[in-house]
Order: sequence, then structure tokens, then C-alpha cells
Amino acid sequence: MVSGVFLTLEGIEGSGKSTQMRLLSERLREKKLPLVVSKEPGGTSLGIRIRQVLLDRDPTVETCTPESELFLFYADRAQHLQEVIRPALAENKIVLVDRFEDSSRAYQGTLGASKSLLDQLAENILGSTRPHLTILLDIDSELSLQRVETRNLSLGREFKERRYDQETLRFHQEVRSRFLEIARAEPRRVFIVEAHHPPEQVFESIWDRVSETLKAHGHLVS
Ligand code: TYD
Repeated sequence: MVSGVFLTLEGIEGSGKSTQMRLLSERLREKKLPLVVSKEPGGTSLGIRIRQVLLDRDPTVETCTPESELFLFYADRAQHLQEVIRPALAENKIVLVDRFEDSSRAYQGTLGASKSLLDQLAENILGSTRPHLTILLDIDSELSLQRVETRNLSLGREFKERRYDQETLRFHQEVRSRFLEIARAEPRRVFIVEAHHPPEQVFESIWDRVSETLKAHGHLVS
């Protein structure tokens, strides 16, 4: 029997997540699988507005407390679950989302949000809607920051232009270690991929794991 599959991609900036999102959605489309691709923050029209508040370098946002920032991410997530994720899963689709709850645990946790608040929000807002599989792109934080710098330069953007690009190496190291902690605690859900390899190689190990999960949910993948 076919059922909905909820897949998420996670990782620090510069881990190559955008490339892997693109490769994975292209492969799933090629296979003509029923697919919805989305992202957080910004997967709904309300979410797009919340995303602007969160990610623009607006001086008023710099004074956000860890809790108010977390609630903004959760406002985005609650809307996204209601408008996009749950309806698609109910129609037995494959839902592929760029960042989800683990990002809040990693980033807002690093900024000071408590574990008990993160747990309560997840319990109340996510309920039983949890990813079946999360791909965590893991990479050395120094290497990832170099990649972000190169990308920003090639886009004509000054390094540190975006909100989390301005954080220190230590910040990114802590975010990374929080992601790894989640993966160690939930090895069945979170699949760690070493992201410093060439993108095609990274993608093939992602695809092996994703196709296994899809088959387990009755989606035909050759
Ligand atoms: P985005 O431009 O989408 O970057 P990326 O390509 O790295 O995903 O920005 C998303 C940013 O928001 C990223 O720095 C991580 C951060 N974020 C959180 O801090 N908490 C969250 O819950 C989510 C979903 C994202």
C-alpha cells in the first residue's frame, strides 16, 4: 500500500544542501513520483513574510530574543504544516522539505533556546507529523564557511550579508555539533552524509537511502 513520505534535508550553510535539494527533486520528478518540494522558512505566503523578517539584516531583528526568534520559525512551521505538508501527506505524496525542526534545535538551540521549549513546541505543533527520513549533510565548519564566502563573492554579495553568515566559526561549529547530536540520538531517522565529497558522489549515497525509504512506503522506484 502506498503512503505519504516526509523527507527533510538539513545541514549548516555551505554544506551543499541547495545542490542536493535540486538533484533530489530532479531525480524524483524524472521517476514521475507524486512530489511536493518546499522549504522553511518561507513555504507559504505568510511564511514568505516571516522569512523576510527573520533573514533580512534588519537592525530590529538583531535584538530578537532566542525565544521570539524561535516562535517566528514556529509560526512559519505551523502554517507550513497546515497548508502544505499535512495535505500532501494525506494525498500519499512525497514531501521534500529544505530544513525543518532539526534546524530550530540546531540554530535556536545554539542561540540559547532551551531544550524543554524546543520539545514542547515540537510536541504541540508537529504532533505526529515527523519526517520519515532526514538527510543531514555534514561538513567541517571551516570548509563550509569558505564555501559560503566563495559563493557570496561569486554572487557579488559581500561576505556576511545574510543573517547567519555573520556568525562566528564557533557558532557554526556548535550548530554542526547539535545536528550531529540529533543524528546520534535518532539514527533510524537521520542519515548522515559526508558532504565534502563531489556533489554527484554525495547524491548517489542520498539516493540509495531515499529510494529505500520510498520503497518501504509503497512508492515504486526502479
Ligand atoms: P536560507 O537562505 O534558506 O539558507 P540555507 O540555504 O542555508 O538553508 O536561510 C535559512 C536560514 O534560516 C539558515 O541560516 C538556517 C536558519 N534557520 C533557523 O535558524 N531555524 C530554523 O528553524 C530554520 C528552518 C532555519
